[in-house]
Amino acid sequence: MSDPLRAFELAGPAAAAALDWLHVHCDLAGALERDDGAVQVWLHGALPALPAIAVTVRELPVHAADFEVTGLEHDRPILVAADLLVRPPWVERPAGFRGVELVVPRGNAFGSGEHASTQAALRCLHRAWDAPASFADVGTGSGILALYAAARGCSQLQACDIEAAAVVAAQALLPQATVRRGGAEVLSPADCVVANLTAAELHAALPAVLACWRGRSPLVLGGMRAHEVAGVLERLGTPPVDRETIGAFTAIVMAPRTSR
Ligand SMILES: C[S@@+](CC[C@H](N)C(=O)[O-])C[C@H]1O[C@@H](n2cnc3c(N)ncnc32)[C@H](O)[C@@H]1O
Repeated sequence: MSDPLRAFELAGPAAAAALDWLHVHCDLAGALERDDGAVQVWLHGALPALPAIAVTVRELPVHAADFEVTGLEHDRPILVAADLLVRPPWVERPAGFRGVELVVPRGNAFGSGEHASTQAALRCLHRAWDAPASFADVGTGSGILALYAAARGCSQLQACDIEAAAVVAAQALLPQATVRRGGAEVLSPADCVVANLTAAELHAALPAVLACWRGRSPLVLGGMRAHEVAGVLERLGTPPVDRETIGAFTAIVMAPRTSR
């Protein structure tokens, strides 16, 4: 029979380093990285003596409720607009909600709806939506922006990301979409294009993003901090028709440049 389960709190600047060490040197039954920076671990038996790592160790009582902790208890639906909701699959739709609902699992890639840049891009996309025939999402992360296009009925969906994990996550979320690894240059031209990237990434990717945009429906660019917007607009040469700032991040909408 194994030793009884015990719980320990590791507090201090090196709590994460201590957790890394424990993962390698003993068989942890559970670990929780808390919002206050401390780490809580559960294991059968005594905590091994930690090498010179700056943490304070305190034994905690083991509660039956500890076995129920999943780390997902605090997830909530995110109302991006009055009629646009993002939620993970394990959170219920709020009663009475009518509108576009994006169900995105959290934790696989960037873009679970919590980040201000995702919300700003989503709001821009939502207001500018003109039912394009085709849609491309550059820097798709979880696939959340392409999922918006799918939810609005767009059937020609493409997405790309330079990160392999994002490509896997987006393809799992959108089996019907063409998801490729790489930048906008790996995509075919699309009527509506969105790219929510950092400003530095946007600057580097802009020629390929513009080449991918057929211009028949809006172009949405997101992820810029306030002082970075002017530099991107200067490259575009025309003012945006809409913009949205949430927290530190701004997204802009460029009007279609050709008629459909
Ligand atoms: C800020 S996240 C946005 C994710 C998601 N589209 C959203 O709005 O939440 C940016 C993503 O773009 C990817 N990325 C960065 N530079 C890129 C580039 N040049 N081409 C394609 N993807 C890129 C990153 O790997 C990351 O997944």
